[in-house]
Amino acid sequence: MDSEAELLARARRYSFRARMDSKSQRGEIAGPVFVSGQGSEVEDVTGKRWLDFNSGQMCAALGHNHPTVTAAIREACDTLIHAHSSYFNVQEIRLAERLARVMPEGLEKSLFLQSGSDANEAAGSLTFAGWHKEHGPLPSGSQAIVAPYCYRCPLRQTFPACNYACLDTSFELIDAQSTGRPAAVLTEPLFSAGGVIEPPPGWLKRLQELCSARGMLLILDEEQTGLGKLGTMFACDAEGVVPDMITVAKHFGGGISISAVTTSAAIEEKVVESGFINTHSHSNDPLACAAGIASLDVIEGEDMPAKARAIGDRFKGHLGALAQRYEQIGDVRGRGLLLGIELVEDRHSRKPAYALGQAVYRYCFERGLIFSQRRQGSVLRFVPPMTTSEAQLDRAAQLLDDAFTAALQGKVKA
Ligand SMILES: Cc1ncc(COP(=O)(O)O)c(C=O)c1O
Repeated sequence: MDSEAELLARARRYSFRARMDSKSQRGEIAGPVFVSGQGSEVEDVTGKRWLDFNSGQMCAALGHNHPTVTAAIREACDTLIHAHSSYFNVQEIRLAERLARVMPEGLEKSLFLQSGSDANEAAGSLTFAGWHKEHGPLPSGSQAIVAPYCYRCPLRQTFPACNYACLDTSFELIDAQSTGRPAAVLTEPLFSAGGVIEPPPGWLKRLQELCSARGMLLILDEEQTGLGKLGTMFACDAEGVVPDMITVAKHFGGGISISAVTTSAAIEEKVVESGFINTHSHSNDPLACAAGIASLDVIEGEDMPAKARAIGDRFKGHLGALAQRYEQIGDVRGRGLLLGIELVEDRHSRKPAYALGQAVYRYCFERGLIFSQRRQGSVLRFVPPMTTSEAQLDRAAQLLDDAFTAALQGKVKA
């Protein structure tokens, strides 16, 4: 195989660098260069093995190369990889039926697409991702709501005394700024990329009431939170809320790119009547749909929600123990396979500890633990695949412990 240096030289010449990675943003191209993976580990071309607490790009939550998924892909390769997207194919129909079975009651009509963005666009056409700030304006008519970020409440309130002041404020602004009845609210039920922000209990229910009162739909982006990852099939199940639409992506394809927007028969009827068409060249490819079916087989057959709960409880326990030792861990949050810690200079000021986040991240990364940084590095997010063993969880926690000690002693190179 080509050496890492040779591969990187070719990447420098031929690869576009627009990636969410600090080195790439500084114009550098550097290793690791990954070549293989199994379960919770990936290997780079130098033979170094990495513990992947980012589940790839969040899409390997079932574990890398899950054998049920790879077998389904192999079979699809021998049967039909791609089909005409205007006609039905067997795998697509099977997947739609399977997805309806795991969705909350009443959500049974699925449209398949390729990525999470596609599915959100089909459902509601927007993004408020902060890192798109150098780009043009958002689609007109879209507004943000105040984040239910209790650790740093933008309204300086405290739950439960606040009585969801963030939602009341958001809807006061929406009512004041909209001329007609706004169509929908599209939200994650737990904000992953935003910094593993967990809304307080009851927030989703109240949000749904506020939407219903205005005839607005509630659309949940469960791409990071759904399909077993948080310990229930969907995050909204834990809140007893059935939204009007759910989007799924990420590990839905077990590593293959496929997403879906699923809604009720009544909404589908209305949308189709109005002439809505949404299709792409690869919308319903049998190969991707077969991977989706296999992934649902794994999620249900191996009880992913239970595995997610067990992993989440053990690792959150470790993170809680670290927070007892390090004052700079201001908050421990998340559940199941989506956890985070927020680093602060001290617990009183809650000033974000960006440099410490970088140092802890760098220490762990150099030693083969992959996770991601959010909120400019002050939140460390952990998304271990469901294949992660207790020993791997304990190893990651030990590495984090060593990283905090080294970073706080100024022993991590900048
Ligand atoms: C919650 C959420 N929605 C949508 C997306 C976009 O998905 P994709 O990158 O597959 O287009 C992401 C990507 O990280 C996400 O985290």
